[in-house]
Amino acid sequence: MTVADLPKIELHLHHEGAAPPAFIRQLAHEKKVDLSGIFKPDGSYDFRDFAHFLSVYEAACAVLKTPEDFRRLTLAILEESAANGVVYSETFLSPDFCGGGDLHAWRDYLAAIQDAADEAEGKFEITLRGVVTCVRHFGPDKAKRSALCAAETAGDWITGFGMGGNEAMGQQADFKWAFDCAREAGLRLTTHAGEFGGPESVRDAVRALGVERVGHGVRAIEDLDLVHELADRGITLEVCPGSNVVLGLYPDFAAHPIARLREAGVKVTVSTDDPPFFHTTMRREYEMLAQAFGWDAEDFAALNDTALNAAFCDEETRARVR
Ligand code: HPA
Ligand code: ZN
Repeated sequence: MTVADLPKIELHLHHEGAAPPAFIRQLAHEKKVDLSGIFKPDGSYDFRDFAHFLSVYEAACAVLKTPEDFRRLTLAILEESAANGVVYSETFLSPDFCGGGDLHAWRDYLAAIQDAADEAEGKFEITLRGVVTCVRHFGPDKAKRSALCAAETAGDWITGFGMGGNEAMGQQADFKWAFDCAREAGLRLTTHAGEFGGPESVRDAVRALGVERVGHGVRAIEDLDLVHELADRGITLEVCPGSNVVLGLYPDFAAHPIARLREAGVKVTVSTDDPPFFHTTMRREYEMLAQAFGWDAEDFAALNDTALNAAFCDEETRARVR
C-alpha cells in the first residue's frame, strides 16, 4: 500500500468543476448545444489562464440545466472521487447555476443532488455535504440571494457557506451581508482568498468575513505576521496544490508553500479544486506531495485528521467517517 491508497477527506471541490469533460460533452450532445470551443483535440478542457478558465467553466455549466442533470453529475463525481479513495467530500454548490438564485428552484436542485448523494453513499461508500457558494464576480446582490438560499436550506446536509469566483473583483468585505446572513442561519464559513489575491485578501477574509476556513490561502506565505495570525486563530487552509501549479502560481509542487505553511503551524488540508480542469485527482495530489516533500503515511494521516476536524459536518458524521 502506498500513501495514495489512504482514505481521504476532501474539503474544496467545485461541484460543476468536477464534471468530467466526457460527461459535459454527452449532455451537450443530448441538448444539441455546440460546446466544441471549450475542448482541446484530446478531449480535455481548454483554457489559457484563470480568467479564461472561469469562462470555460461557465460555458460548461450552460448544459447543466435541470435537477436531473445535477443528479447525474453528482453520481458521476462521487463515483470518481470514491475511486480515488475519498471517503468524505464537501462540494461547493452555487444557486446561480442551480435555478439562478430562485429559492423554489434551488430546493428542487438540492433534492436531486441529495438523492444522488444518498445513492452514492450506498454504492461507493462516500459521504457528501454541501457548501452553498456565491460567485464573487457575479457581485454582492447575487451573493445575497445565494446566502438566502443557503439560510433557508441550512441543516444536516447544507452545512456551510462560501465564495468562489474571481478574486480580482471587489473586496471580501463587499460580501459581508451574505456571510452574516449565512452565519446567523448556523452555517460554517469559508471563502476563496490568497489564490490570485495577495495576503491582504486572506487577512480580510478572516477579519472582515470571520471565516474559519480559507479556500487556498497559500499566498499568506508572503506575509509572516499573517502566517502566525492564521496559526494562532486556528484557521484551516483548503490547499489545492495541483490547481495552483496549473494556474501558474508556482512552477511545480516542490516550489509550493504548503510544506512551509504546515511547518509554521498553520492547519493545512489538501483538495483538488476542479480536478478534470487541472488534470488531477486526490490520489495524484498525494503522490505529488509525497514525491516533493517526502511526506509519509503518518504525515498524510495527520493531514486527513486536520481535514476531518475542519469538516463542516456534525459529530456523528465525523465519528462515522473517522
Ligand atoms: N477558483 C475560484 N473560483 C472558482 C474555481 C476556482 O478554482 N472554480 C470554480 N470557481
Ligand atoms: Zn476553488
